[in-house]
Amino acid sequence: MPVTIFVDGKEYQVNEDKTILEACRDIGYDIPTLCYHPALSVVGSCRVCVVEVEGARNLAPACATKVADGMVIKVNSDRVKKAVKFNLGLLLSNHPNDCMTCDVNGRCEFQDLIYRFDVKDMFPKELRNTPYDESSPSLFRDMNKCIACGRCVRACEELQGLSILSMVNRGHYTLPLPALSAPIAATDCINCGQCATVCPVGAITERPDFRKVLEEIDRHEKVLIVQTAPAVRVA
Ligand code: FES
Repeated sequence: MPVTIFVDGKEYQVNEDKTILEACRDIGYDIPTLCYHPALSVVGSCRVCVVEVEGARNLAPACATKVADGMVIKVNSDRVKKAVKFNLGLLLSNHPNDCMTCDVNGRCEFQDLIYRFDVKDMFPKELRNTPYDESSPSLFRDMNKCIACGRCVRACEELQGLSILSMVNRGHYTLPLPALSAPIAATDCINCGQCATVCPVGAITERPDFRKVLEEIDRHEKVLIVQTAPAVRVA
């Protein structure tokens, strides 16, 4: 059923089932997002999609707030821009800013927003020191670049039906890791690559040498099979 909303002073008819984010994007407003992904459930954790809703004391996450008839929304007010910049600044304080040597330089959603909102280092850096995981034949995982959006966790569970990753720790140490922080090769990961596809930064990337590594493993396993095969008795 259509409802009427007002966005930055203009009136629109939108479907009542939509969130503010979906309705505004359909209309043409470019609300920034990080934890949101259209193929995944909504968690509303990054807070970079916040908007002003008239009558509400706090800013509302557009991805997790449904429209309502007569709702008056501001997506470009000074308060909204300041809050988005602040929230991006907090995420940046845990991020190494090594864009020049990063695999996803130029196609990183976080980098795009940092430039778009002209975010500089606003807070003291508190970087993580998590081991680089190159144990998987299909993925590289650099959790020092993670912004804890949780998309990889939801993709693994919701798209693939697995739960290899879960969010562990608290505060800026919160990270998506396998149980007991094991390397990914020690898990039941099936190398589908869904986590890398939805990662908005360079924390999980596909190995460029994926096929070569798989061939190596395949060859190694065949050698093992030959070596361990029982001797054939010739009559
Ligand atoms: Fe809405 Fe992250 S995109 S809270």
